[in-house]
Amino acid sequence: MTAGTLLAVRDLRVLIGGRHILHGVDLDVARHGVTALLGRNGAGKTTTVRGVLGLVPRTGSVRLDGAETVALPTHAVVRLGIGYAPEDRGVFASLTVAENLRLAERPGADGPAYGLVHELFPELKRRERQLAGTLSGGQQQMVAIGRTLLNGNRLIIADEPTKGLAPKVVTEVAQVLERAAEAVPVLLVEQNLAVVRRLARHCAVLADGRTAHQGPAADLLGDAETARRLLGVGHGPATAAPSREADS
Ligand SMILES: Nc1ncnc2c1ncn2[C@@H]1O[C@H](COP(=O)(O)OP(=O)(O)O)[C@@H](O)[C@H]1O
Ligand SMILES: [Mg+2]
Repeated sequence: MTAGTLLAVRDLRVLIGGRHILHGVDLDVARHGVTALLGRNGAGKTTTVRGVLGLVPRTGSVRLDGAETVALPTHAVVRLGIGYAPEDRGVFASLTVAENLRLAERPGADGPAYGLVHELFPELKRRERQLAGTLSGGQQQMVAIGRTLLNGNRLIIADEPTKGLAPKVVTEVAQVLERAAEAVPVLLVEQNLAVVRRLARHCAVLADGRTAHQGPAADLLGDAETARRLLGVGHGPATAAPSREADS
C-alpha cells in the first residue's frame, strides 16, 4: 500500500453456500480519480464489491484510509464514507428523481450535497419531478451516481454502470463518471475497455476469484496479448464495441 492508496484490499476471500467465490483478491484503489476493476463475466468483480461493503461474509483485510473494516457490519462500512451504485442501478422506478435522491440522504455535518449533485448533473435538477422509471438508462445512471455524491462520501463504487447501454449513452455515462471522479475517487467495475481507457489511471484484473493483474491501466490496455489473455478481448486497440454478427 502506498500513500496514494485510499482503499487497500488484501487476500479477500468469500465463501457462499460452501462455495469459494473469492480466494485471494488484492486491490488498491487510488486516492484520486478512477481505479478500474476488470475481469470476464463471473470472475468475481461484483462479489469483491459486495465483500468490501460487508454484504457477504468475508475474510482478509479491507482498509479504508488505513482503518480495518473487515469485521464491521455493512451499515458501519457505509458510514465510513463509501457510496455504492449497484449493478442494476437500484433506482426506484415509481419515485421521482428528487424522491430517489431524498431517500439516499444520510445525516451529516454539512447536510446533503445537492449543490454538488446538481452542478455535476444539471439534468437531474431539470428532471427532478420526473418518475425515474421514465428516464433513459443513462439518466437513471446519473441518479444512481448522484445518490452516492449526496453524502460527502470518500469513495464511490460503481458496478458496471455502462452495461447494456447504447454506445452514445455509454459516452454520456463516462462523462458523468469523469465529472464525479473529479470530486470523489471512484472504483469502477467495467467491462467496456474504451471507458477504462478514457477514465482509469489504475486497474486490477480478476480471474477466477483472484487478482490476476494490477497496475497502470495504460500498461494493460497497451499490452494486447495480456489484455486478451485476461479479458478475452481481441487483438489491436481494445474497443468498446461488441462485435456485431454479420449483417448480410
Ligand atoms: N450468492 C451467490 N451464490 C452462489 N454463487 C454466487 C453468488 N454470487 C456470485 N456467485 C458466483 O460467483 C462467481 C462470481 O460472480 P460475480 O462476482 O457476480 O462475477 P462478476 O461480477 O465478475 O461477473 C460466479 O460464478 C457467480 O455465479
Ligand atoms: Mg458483476
